[in-house]
Amino acid sequence: MTTVVSSDGRRLTLGSTLGKGGEGAVHHIVEAPDLAAKIYNPGKAKERRDKVAAMVSGRLNDKSTYVAFPIDTLKSPSGEFLGFTMKKVAGFKSVHDLYGPGSRKTEFPTADSQFLLRAAINLANAVASIHATGCVIGDINHSGILVSNKALVTLIDSDSFQYRVSSDTYRCLVGVAEYTPPELQGASFSKIDRTPNHDNFGLAVLLFQLLFLGRHPFAGKYLGKGDMDIKTAIKDGRFAYSSRKAETMMEAPPFVPALGDYGEDTLEVISISQPPPSSKLSCLSGLIRLLMTSN
Ligand SMILES: Nc1ncnc2c1ncn2[C@@H]1O[C@H](COP(=O)(O)OP(=O)(O)OP(=O)(O)O)[C@@H](O)[C@H]1O
Ligand SMILES: [Mg+2]
Repeated sequence: MTTVVSSDGRRLTLGSTLGKGGEGAVHHIVEAPDLAAKIYNPGKAKERRDKVAAMVSGRLNDKSTYVAFPIDTLKSPSGEFLGFTMKKVAGFKSVHDLYGPGSRKTEFPTADSQFLLRAAINLANAVASIHATGCVIGDINHSGILVSNKALVTLIDSDSFQYRVSSDTYRCLVGVAEYTPPELQGASFSKIDRTPNHDNFGLAVLLFQLLFLGRHPFAGKYLGKGDMDIKTAIKDGRFAYSSRKAETMMEAPPFVPALGDYGEDTLEVISISQPPPSSKLSCLSGLIRLLMTSN
């Protein structure tokens, strides 16, 4: 049994593993069933120590209910920084399981289009609330976003978020190309400050995937010569559902909802621009009302 020590000197016992990533492992805590402990892999803790301490003292966990933010730092009995506590997220599944039609059947068997829209609204709300804390997600992607069977949304891996406090910016050092805006494709993330608007591109991709059977908005049939990968399509602005087909040289894949099925306003918001999450929110709320009255 591994013993860790909280900032007030309380000794806590690490239980079984809830999950593992590339940076550390997340455990149950025997004495605190509502909390989880993230313990960094050897060598990783040192570089995260100041960032996690800043997130704890900024009380980010009190500022957004949509995120498992660090609550307290954890040390070894000899005083070495090991990781942090956060709320335990139980009964949630990856947003990827929801937007993929195959996995949706098994993981979210009762989810209909209204459920997808509620999840989309909650996700937009979550991103807005994260931006209000002074954080930028940076590495927005499907594996850090969890959805409950009530379409509630929670983000994990918050210690990778960019966090700016007074003159210090703790950057997000990673990113997934499919959710990265055109201007950051190929960029070296350790050298740049991310903005909320960068997140909004990733958010728009996720909203699109939720409403379009998991399809990526920049994946389609390329009408030019050779292959077109998603990174290049994003960089070149080749939105696969665009009416400017002569310009984008892209055709939407078959058997997906048509853009018009969701209404012009919605599609303009989720596909073309990078508006603030709040405007996505009002737009999607309008759409939900429409669907509810037409059913
Ligand atoms: N608050 C939590 N409650 C329950 N399980 C969690 C929680 N946070 C993380 N997990 C589980 O632990 C796994 C690893 O967590 P996390 O993504 O934070 O690790 P990481 O090492 O930083 O990953 P990455 O290499 O993607 O950055 C998650 O995929 C999830 O299964
Ligand atoms: Mg991480």
